[in-house]
Amino acid sequence: MKFGQKPILERETPAATPGGIPAASAGVTASPSGGELSRADGSGAAAPARNPASPSPSITGSDGNEALVRSELFRVIRNGVFDAMNASAAIGRTREQMKPSVEQLVVGIAEREQFNITISEQRQIVVELLNDMFGLGPIEPLLADESVTDVLVNGPDQVYVERHGRLQLTPYKFRDNAHVTSVAQRIAAGVGRRVDESSPMVDARLADGSRVNVVLPPLAIHGASISIRKFSKRNITLQRMAQQGNLSEAMATVLKLASTCRLNIIVSGGTGSGKTTLLNALSHFIGLDERTITIEDAAELRLVQPHVVSLETRPENAEGFGAVAQRDLVRNALRMRPDRIILGETRGAEAFDVLQAMNTGHDGSMTTIHANTPRDGLTRLESMVMMANGNLPLMSIRRQIASAVHLIVQIERMRDGMRRITRVTELAGMEGDVIITQDLFTFRYDATAYSEEVKGVFECTPVRPAFAPRAAYYGLEQALLDAMKP
Ligand SMILES: Nc1ncnc2c1ncn2[C@@H]1O[C@H](COP(=O)(O)OP(=O)(O)OP(=O)(O)O)[C@@H](O)[C@H]1O
Ligand SMILES: [Mg+2]
Repeated sequence: MKFGQKPILERETPAATPGGIPAASAGVTASPSGGELSRADGSGAAAPARNPASPSPSITGSDGNEALVRSELFRVIRNGVFDAMNASAAIGRTREQMKPSVEQLVVGIAEREQFNITISEQRQIVVELLNDMFGLGPIEPLLADESVTDVLVNGPDQVYVERHGRLQLTPYKFRDNAHVTSVAQRIAAGVGRRVDESSPMVDARLADGSRVNVVLPPLAIHGASISIRKFSKRNITLQRMAQQGNLSEAMATVLKLASTCRLNIIVSGGTGSGKTTLLNALSHFIGLDERTITIEDAAELRLVQPHVVSLETRPENAEGFGAVAQRDLVRNALRMRPDRIILGETRGAEAFDVLQAMNTGHDGSMTTIHANTPRDGLTRLESMVMMANGNLPLMSIRRQIASAVHLIVQIERMRDGMRRITRVTELAGMEGDVIITQDLFTFRYDATAYSEEVKGVFECTPVRPAFAPRAAYYGLEQALLDAMKP
């Protein structure tokens, strides 16, 4: 086809989903409905009528990929490559296998159109095209970057990342709205799901285990939003957290003892504060002979023990059937002879069932909760149980919580990006209708030393832990008292 004729701008990659599964075989065609969007916003309206001039030297400059992917030159080459390639050519082939033919096509088209591009620009074009075919387009390098923990796409023009606990705007851009949508659709197709106007919000997972949420327009007003919580390849242990200054050595020892002594533990914190990471670190002290059942919306936990059954919830299908909620899985787990149950996050009716489990011989169960303080966490638990079981009087809910939960660990992502455990709080029974708590450790800010970095100290409270008798039962009382020495 000659350029200037009918455009094939949004003809999508002939290739694969992120996991290397051809999109077609995942039940979804790779061709995006986003093509409509492209025409609507004008970006796909016309093919180049003339040969673009030589590219400006900055198309592969240090300002990210914007100049390149939005250049007329790239558009012409991309269309030419996808046009010349057989649509099924890439199915079943790897990126490396496809690279030579893409390179050849790029060189051929550049010569034919008399584009004056350098070798490095040519390489960059090939990388962008391969990222488009096999990966997630322009954000592919961010997914490969170990220092990035979150990738947040807000429409085609804004890609943020979180590094070392802080958000940064990157120079990466998508071609247009349709491009973001097509990447979002490819992610969803990879887990056999669909994201389009009729189901515009989807949770999915990448092949490497990263958690993804997608919201399409018109719900996302300024273009499709993709939020990726990258799966950390580093397994962060309590020891490592102590070295990094997330908590003190004494706190790490006490948490290790708490997990070994099978306390029921709740990790509380804000979004992205490191709750799941801490839960995973605590799970390292589960005995090798224990049977653990994990329940999550998107499986993120990685237990190191051999005897683990991991369960994942399921959303309803297109007809509105087949949903399996956390609550169903917790109830089912009780029939699976668990020694411990680990629930990724308690956020609804399952709170009632988790408390039941903790109260009925599944000591050592753990979960997380979104709350700003241990007290808030308790109040949230109360209201979640109340919503699940409106008939229960508040007093009996409190009594259940007081006897089920032993320890609440509060974690916070602070303004310097550092995650710190700000409180280790024990539940020590009830007085009247109030749950008694006592802090074993707290983090005290140094308010006089304001700087970029948060200054402060982890303090140990001089109290005898309420779980000392339980530690004695496990032969660990002395270790606990030693760790608690101020
Ligand atoms: N102590 C830590 N040191 C370094 N990185 C950490 C630490 N804790 C968490 N992270 C990183 O921060 C990101 C968020 O952590 P995590 O998923 O545990 O948070 P969360 O509180 O469970 O978030 P959400 O509320 O979204 O479930 C992850 O990418 C993780 O690798
Ligand atoms: Mg989490």
